[in-house]
Amino acid sequence: MAVADQQLAQSWQGLGALPEMDDQQFARWVDLLERRTGMAMPSERKSFLVTSVGLRMREIGFDDFDAYYRHLVSGVAGNLEWAALVDRLTVHETRFFRDPCAVAYVVDQVLPRLVAAGSRELNLWSVGCATGEEVYTLAMAVADAVSTYPEPPHFGVTGTDISLHALSVGRHGTYARRRMHDIPQDKREAYCEELPGGNRFRVTGALRRRVGFAQMNVLDAPRAPSLRMDVIYCQNLLIYFDQERRRAIVDGLARHLRPEGTLVLGAGELVRGPPEGLVRAREAGDVLAFRRPVQ
Ligand SMILES: C[S@@+](CC[C@H](N)C(=O)[O-])C[C@H]1O[C@@H](n2cnc3c(N)ncnc32)[C@H](O)[C@@H]1O
Repeated sequence: MAVADQQLAQSWQGLGALPEMDDQQFARWVDLLERRTGMAMPSERKSFLVTSVGLRMREIGFDDFDAYYRHLVSGVAGNLEWAALVDRLTVHETRFFRDPCAVAYVVDQVLPRLVAAGSRELNLWSVGCATGEEVYTLAMAVADAVSTYPEPPHFGVTGTDISLHALSVGRHGTYARRRMHDIPQDKREAYCEELPGGNRFRVTGALRRRVGFAQMNVLDAPRAPSLRMDVIYCQNLLIYFDQERRRAIVDGLARHLRPEGTLVLGAGELVRGPPEGLVRAREAGDVLAFRRPVQ
């Protein structure tokens, strides 16, 4: 059993038994989740789904999975409740500088290339940003890198996620103090402020002004108006989708890259062949990255 599943199992022990979910009901929930979020929920994760859905429905006064399902799929109240449930069903595990090689690739190779090509404004996008650590990681690294240019280009980092709760943590930019240890010391000193009490720290206001957060279902990326990004950073999100969805997602993200822009994925998150219109960035070495060539 995964750690998250174990924690959930422990948390409902005090609440009494949840109702059974039969195979037909399970299939209906899996279908709803798959249609609305694209997330695959294999039968091995049935207990996770039953516990997460069961706990949430109990919290708002439902005792029966079918009644809760009907509530979710009807009306405005259902839409609001859907946001709360999705928050429970998604995994928000993340940390600062989770993939230092990918970050180094962005600042040491992608940015100089963009600046050399004349970019004066750099737009980066963290897709599936969870609670914002990835957004601030990119912002810290890019802020340091651009400060070395005689005329530093302007930059901004946008984080998007399906979970409203995760996004609100990111917007606030306040984290447990122990998480600071993932941040290299020079950046800790430059961009983090310890809060009174000693248990928490906040990303500095100057850095927070460089970032923005918005809710976006990555499945909607193919239909969204083009965002003309310089860097799209998407790690540890594709793993929740089947191969067909992954392909559609990366093709959808690729549409939002400007010429010379780069898509960075997590190691091993490759879908067959490069995303539509992109070529593999060979100089990235072990980092899985693709670039939109200049026409
Ligand atoms: C494991 S976290 C990855 C966080 C960060 N990218 C990292 O690598 O540390 C995956 C995130 O993807 C988000 N997510 C899952 N399905 C999504 C969807 N359909 N659209 C947008 N975000 C989604 C989850 O809410 C979660 O915050």
